[in-house]
Amino acid sequence: MSTPSATPSFTILGTGSHAPSQVVTNDDLATSIETSDEWIHSRTGIRARHLSGPEDTTTRLAVNAARAALLDANLAANQIDLLIVATCTPDLPMPSTASLVQNELGLSPRAACFDLNAACTGFVYALDTAWAMLSSGRYHHALVIGAEKMSTVLDWTDRTTCVLFGDGAGAIILGPAPADHPASGILAARLGTIPSTSDLLRIPGGGSSPLTPEARRYITMKGREVFKFAVRGMEEVARELLAEQGLATENIALVVPHQANLRIIHAISEYLEVPRERFFINVERYGNTSAASIPIALDEARRAGRVQRGDLVLLVAFGAGLTYGGALVRW
Ligand code: UT7
Repeated sequence: MSTPSATPSFTILGTGSHAPSQVVTNDDLATSIETSDEWIHSRTGIRARHLSGPEDTTTRLAVNAARAALLDANLAANQIDLLIVATCTPDLPMPSTASLVQNELGLSPRAACFDLNAACTGFVYALDTAWAMLSSGRYHHALVIGAEKMSTVLDWTDRTTCVLFGDGAGAIILGPAPADHPASGILAARLGTIPSTSDLLRIPGGGSSPLTPEARRYITMKGREVFKFAVRGMEEVARELLAEQGLATENIALVVPHQANLRIIHAISEYLEVPRERFFINVERYGNTSAASIPIALDEARRAGRVQRGDLVLLVAFGAGLTYGGALVRW
């Protein structure tokens, strides 16, 4: 848990997102594996996903999302002194994706740049980390990106996983709340990891452990178990955040959840007793873009006018680890 003091307040000054141009529908997938639009849509809500070509590296996706966020915040790249890229699909083991992004964006050499891996919860982890670093008084403007090229860690012959994920990136700029709206800001954030669940969702090969026919660089998942932990974890973290702030679910104007599965989102809506209309959902067009899913959804929600000044917005996610996390933001 981290709840730095409410003053000074740091808030989201701009958002941006980017997805590769290639859109692959469920019907397209059904031409190469034994699946159907009916199965995928009824189990997950997904209709299509964006997939990268070789030129769309994780870095390139991140840079495009970051440029849009800088423009939205009306900030120059050299005003950023902290860059965190949440990703579990970096271009390279080293240097970090953040270093590559820094170079392309032309950030100041004094900017701290690093990657963070908390899988699909990565963006919420990065947001809380950036908030804590800004609250230390040593940094002023943070660029927080969730960027993933999930297509590179999928076994395209495994229908139980490859139909679920997509590629993309989303970014936010965090900085001091504007003088004319000092009440805006991140109110609270909470992070966690559920013990003994690391085997439920993993990429068993490709790190420092050797690649073998059994441990390949592809996602493996026990979907049903992940589903149950996801619903429980996100509901709990949402309730804890609200209780900590003395707020109720009725106060939430919009929930921007991790976009993994429409049934998971509907289950959270039911358990939290927040109507479905107050959830922003775009999983049907993107699939699960892991750490990119919340910032892409947040950017789309804002640009669609779903977030207004003064609104209370809940971000909530889960992912491999199993990790979970949430944040409450006053817009
Ligand atoms: O960010 C975290 C990411 N992970 C998640 O969010 C995963 C959460 N879990 C889920 O979303 C769901 O568990 C899934 C969508 C992955 C699976 O849905 P399910 O209702 O739990 O299905 P199931 O795994 O129990 O599979 C049912 C059947 C199986 O056939 P049999 O054994 O009953 O004959 C599967 O082989 O569906 C079959 N199946 C498919 N059929 C057509 C699995 N994948 C496919 C497919 N197309 N793509």
